[in-house]
Amino acid sequence: MKEPTSDRTGDRAGDPTRRRSAARIVEVGPRDGLQNEQQTVTTETKLELIDRLGAAGVTAIEAASFVSPKWIPQMADHADLMRRLVRRPGVSYPVLTPNLKGFEGALAAGATEVAVFASASESFSQKNINCSIAESIARFEPVFDAAKASGIAVRGYVSCVVDCPYEGPIEPQAVADLARALYERGAHEVSLGDTIGTGTPATIERMLDAVARVVPIDRVAGHYHDTYGMAVANVDASWRFGVRTFDSSVSGLGGCPYAKGATGNVATEDVVYLLHGLGADTGIDLDRLVDTSVWISERLGRAPGSRVTRALLAKRSGPATAPAA
Ligand code: HMG
Ligand code: MG
Repeated sequence: MKEPTSDRTGDRAGDPTRRRSAARIVEVGPRDGLQNEQQTVTTETKLELIDRLGAAGVTAIEAASFVSPKWIPQMADHADLMRRLVRRPGVSYPVLTPNLKGFEGALAAGATEVAVFASASESFSQKNINCSIAESIARFEPVFDAAKASGIAVRGYVSCVVDCPYEGPIEPQAVADLARALYERGAHEVSLGDTIGTGTPATIERMLDAVARVVPIDRVAGHYHDTYGMAVANVDASWRFGVRTFDSSVSGLGGCPYAKGATGNVATEDVVYLLHGLGADTGIDLDRLVDTSVWISERLGRAPGSRVTRALLAKRSGPATAPAA
């Protein structure tokens, strides 16, 4: 069994005398964001979004999901998209695979990293992937085996790490048990999803405390939806806890089709602004990211969902005139 590390100190946040430490962003907008979009988004637009994100310096971009098109029609173009994807060196393009059928489709379409997704809540597991938590792990076993045989990295998701839309609060230990099960089966990283965005720094930290006992903190990612406006605070708390990888969605796109009312992930621009302010190096050019946010928002016919983007756009358009005395 892999041993969890007890060192979760990381670099001290905000101390300018210390080495800038690396933070990793996993951009999930093209998948988590667009899976919930009511209007049709063409494969061309998705490909251009992915390309623009790569050009802005994002090194992990979740591109699609190989799930049933009857369940998530927005992702039905997954194979075409992966075949046409122009890969940038040093960038990974993981895709979601709920079972062996999804994995085989992803492999045939050229995916080199996949993600399996489980839920710490039984009800959400049933609604989302039509099986129990135990059944989901059993379905992932052949995916882990096949991925190992093909040299494909597997990421593991745990949903409902704080609350479930059907069951309410979820015990941190249930999250830790599932995170451990995914890690022990070979997930290189376990992403902890606050699916409905109800978490606060206190509940997130309690949950991380349980998970960090069984999975090394450098193998943990935070995946926080922003429904209650807490996601940036939750990223900050997680960073201080020692988490260095965060999932986010450009312009805050998205939501989960099986979590009614849940909004998108925390906006990538807001996370990058926060992390740069903490002295972290993301490798991302915030200006280019803002341009990408504006571009996809225009395509979708709405204002950018990121406070940072809106602030930087206002700044770009010139200095504010002082109010008359
Ligand atoms: P099922 O109906 O139980 O599957 O769905 P089944 O095995 O009984 O098969 C039924 C039909 O689906 C068959 O086709 C299969 O071939 C087909 P038919 O014979 O009827 O024509 N099928 C598939 N087709 C394409 N791709 C596949 C696949 N598997 C079976 N992989 C299933 C089970 C998991 C497929 C279904 O429930 C599903 O697709 N669910 C999608 C759930 C989803 O994508 N949710 C959103 C992503 S998760 C999320 O957003 C949370 C996250 O962001 C973290 C967080 O925020 O917490 C990750
Ligand atoms: Mg999500």
